[in-house]
Amino acid sequence: MPRDGFGREIDYLRISLTDHCNLRCAYCMPLTGNAFVPSDDLLTAEEIETVVRAAVAVGFRKFRLTGGEPTLRADLVDIVERLARVPGVRDLAMTTNGILLPRLAQRLAAAGLRRVNIHVDSLDPVRLARLMRWGTVEEIWAGIEAAEAAGLWPIKLNTVVARGHNEEDVVALAALTLTRDWHVRFIETMPLGVGDTAGFARARLVPNEESRARIEAALGGLDPIACEDPADEARNYRLGHGRGVIGFISPVTAPYCGTCNRMRLTADGRFHLCLLNDDELDVGGTLRSGGTSEDVARILLRAVGHKPTGHRLAVGRSTEKHEMYQLGG
Ligand code: 5AD
Ligand code: SF4
Repeated sequence: MPRDGFGREIDYLRISLTDHCNLRCAYCMPLTGNAFVPSDDLLTAEEIETVVRAAVAVGFRKFRLTGGEPTLRADLVDIVERLARVPGVRDLAMTTNGILLPRLAQRLAAAGLRRVNIHVDSLDPVRLARLMRWGTVEEIWAGIEAAEAAGLWPIKLNTVVARGHNEEDVVALAALTLTRDWHVRFIETMPLGVGDTAGFARARLVPNEESRARIEAALGGLDPIACEDPADEARNYRLGHGRGVIGFISPVTAPYCGTCNRMRLTADGRFHLCLLNDDELDVGGTLRSGGTSEDVARILLRAVGHKPTGHRLAVGRSTEKHEMYQLGG
């Protein structure tokens, strides 16, 4: 497994398939002024497979498809099929808003996708629409049910908590774990980029300690679950009599850079070294000028070697050139 300059073992690649999205969540994607990657510049299914083969060759084991919204890629099922076939790919997951899962979940599961994380910020239709803008509870809920019916397990739900929007809704979302074996995870707003979304994230931060206290006051004590995977960014708990897991992802108030095991690939073929920094190494150019899997592996190892640690959120800064929808979380 490759190690970075800080001794961290990096074996998890998050692959952004597109920077487009069918929603416009207030903390992620500005309503106007987005510059999308020209479609000719998107890595093809074959090129993504080459990167994944190279990543496995140097010791990567975990892969996640992200966006924007990965289900907007017309060749998504083909991509999943290709990656699931690569020997050494141990975990293949996807982060999605769930809207298109009713028509895709069965096919994705059959193609070899193991599991999905679905983001849903509220169970209240009005508050969800205020935050996720074009999303509706019915559509997302149908997506969650489709994922479950297709056997994509465990189901993980991601909720970004924003002041004045959904801070009370954490209780109803956490209560889902009483009757279902789902993971419901609450994420602090991270400011990325220099536009509205970053301002929103800064102004609306709800520290996870507050969400935890709110859940405990309403539903009873949370019992910590011993950490199975040191690279899991969530601190996990269970309600005494609950079936599922409640997790808190606190990049702002409790940074977890020290156990980061991630590398990212942008939709236009650049290794993005850290979510909250702008450093990147191009790999698309190498792929398009006849580069081999070995060449890609060399670039990936260089990317791992240059991975920075420690973000600057505490002093109010993060990326200047990237928005969340371009990186997929
Ligand atoms: N801060 C924290 N989490 C975010 N997500 C999107 N934008 C932000 C942000 N600004 C989450 C989404 C999704 C995952 C990819 O990242 O909810 O689940
Ligand atoms: Fe789209 Fe997900 Fe970003 Fe919302 S958080 S705008 S659903 S990519």
